[in-house]
Amino acid sequence: MTLNLTIVQTTTKKEKPDPNQLGFGKYFTDHMFIMDYATEKGWYDPRIVPMQNISLHPAAKVFHYGQTVFEGLKAYRTKDNRILLFRPDKNMERLNHSNERLSIPPVDEEFLLEALKQLIAIEKDWIPPAEGTSLYIRPYIIATEPALGVSPSNHYLLMIILSPVGSYYAEGIHPVKIYVENQYVRAVQGGTGTAKTAGNYAAGLKAQEGASEKGYSQVLWLDGVEKKYVEEVGSMNVFFKINGEVVTPVLNGSILNGITRNSIIHLLKHMNIPVAERKISVEELYQAHANGTLEEAFGTGTAAVISPIGELNWQDKKMVVNNGETGSLTKELYDTLTGIQNGSVSDPF
Ligand code: COI
Repeated sequence: MTLNLTIVQTTTKKEKPDPNQLGFGKYFTDHMFIMDYATEKGWYDPRIVPMQNISLHPAAKVFHYGQTVFEGLKAYRTKDNRILLFRPDKNMERLNHSNERLSIPPVDEEFLLEALKQLIAIEKDWIPPAEGTSLYIRPYIIATEPALGVSPSNHYLLMIILSPVGSYYAEGIHPVKIYVENQYVRAVQGGTGTAKTAGNYAAGLKAQEGASEKGYSQVLWLDGVEKKYVEEVGSMNVFFKINGEVVTPVLNGSILNGITRNSIIHLLKHMNIPVAERKISVEELYQAHANGTLEEAFGTGTAAVISPIGELNWQDKKMVVNNGETGSLTKELYDTLTGIQNGSVSDPF
């Protein structure tokens, strides 16, 4: 596909950060992608420009009513220096799903993916080579019309920024402690839980803060009506291995349709390991822990890929999973999926 895209290259390239000290989302590359939208024109003026501040009217709708969506995906450098993207078409598809929910006009998925690839080609030297590192890609859209009436914006900006990253949690692939949240909820059916929109994350901060004060890394979200069924963990989907079967909450209209979640389900089927998408109550987890069948637990997401859970605290009842250590299946899934992503394991799909 030949793109009608303006490219302005920077004349002052930044120094690259130490690849062993990247953390998550702290450094940004030299260029970004921007495209405008106006109701009367559609999406227009796609361009790759030096990374720069943007100027917005203080009344821009995104500041007041949170009309915004985002995506997250990663580019990897293989040992033989090829660049791989993991299922990027799924992110473009999900961006439009989020757009639909937030009354933001759809984007041309094929065009955006090509533009993204062009940006990555320009920034290829920023893709870190070390194991466990990658280039995190953040496409996002904000409503920019300066108007305080509550209605969909007539103007938007779509941007893509890139950040070389290491592991999301300081713990890396070491198990994290999780607090089962009983007061706040992340989403309800019919709400915005299936969209990647800023408000979902802002609304989760209070619970995350509370968990952190109690010495926990993240919260386990329960359903918004009965606070009985498990939904997600922090900003990730969640899986449990109970008595040899892997289970994950079924997509019920308030859970994010995670791309890593989907890959894990496919991988488990390919490995002939029983896997089910169904309702899971926290009481069931408690019982499984009590009778010794709660074997492993982990979260999945683009940022951390797989994050093992070593302990769950539910109303001060502690469930230590696999002696607080990373389970063997969790480790195998992590190694296989990151291997597929960085090109060291052939993709079975
Ligand atoms: C992910 O796991 O990829 C997320 O959605 C977390 C992100 C908000 C940093």
